[in-house]
Amino acid sequence: MQRACQPWVDVDRYIADQLLGDAPVPAHGGLPPHDVSPPQGALLELLARLMGARSILEIGTLAGYSTLWLARALPPGGRLVTLEADPRHAEVARANLAGAAEVIVGPALETLPTLTGPFDLVFIDADKRSNAEYLRWALRLSRPGTLIVADNVVRDGRLVDRGDEDPAIAAQRRFHEMLASEPRVEATTIQTVGGKGYDGFSIALVTD
Ligand SMILES: C[S@@+](CC[C@H](N)C(=O)[O-])C[C@H]1O[C@@H](n2cnc3c(N)ncnc32)[C@H](O)[C@@H]1O
Repeated sequence: MQRACQPWVDVDRYIADQLLGDAPVPAHGGLPPHDVSPPQGALLELLARLMGARSILEIGTLAGYSTLWLARALPPGGRLVTLEADPRHAEVARANLAGAAEVIVGPALETLPTLTGPFDLVFIDADKRSNAEYLRWALRLSRPGTLIVADNVVRDGRLVDRGDEDPAIAAQRRFHEMLASEPRVEATTIQTVGGKGYDGFSIALVTD
């Protein structure tokens, strides 16, 4: 991953200092810092609140940082389910979440078939090579009006390098091709820079 330029880091910090004073501060328990940035976490919360989401599915928990942002948007009685393959990550997340979400352990492609939808919002942020499969499941677990958000789909611009056959990159092209050919969604992808480098996320609205 391209290293973040200093101004991107500084601006992320500025945004957090100015606007996100009450950002969640989970314990990381020695896990890698692969969670979304604070401004992105706040965006997830805002999107969920804009939608009036009452049920949210997250694929890829890590320590529960993005989960904590999403949890803040839920009304009392809301449902938040997060899927995590690594039992150690799930253990750290459960401690951080303190019951705010149901953490389901196992490879998501095995646990997704056990879920009952529909969900109002689905956040895809697990192993990047499976994004197209996760999109298929997100659609199965959706209703018209569901919002699907997927992180890390631009990968330093490698998305458009057709000679780049890294499975995690080729998967982002398959993901976009699926979005393009799926008549039930309207979608866009936003490129991002920040403390996590250069990447991007897709937002898709299920219309039908
Ligand atoms: C980018 S991190 C998630 C970050 C988290 N959403 C956040 O922003 O705080 C990806 C997580 O997905 C998990 N993961 C990887 N492969 C997975 C799979 N097949 N099924 C479920 N989770 C998986 C990893 O163990 C890791 O914890």
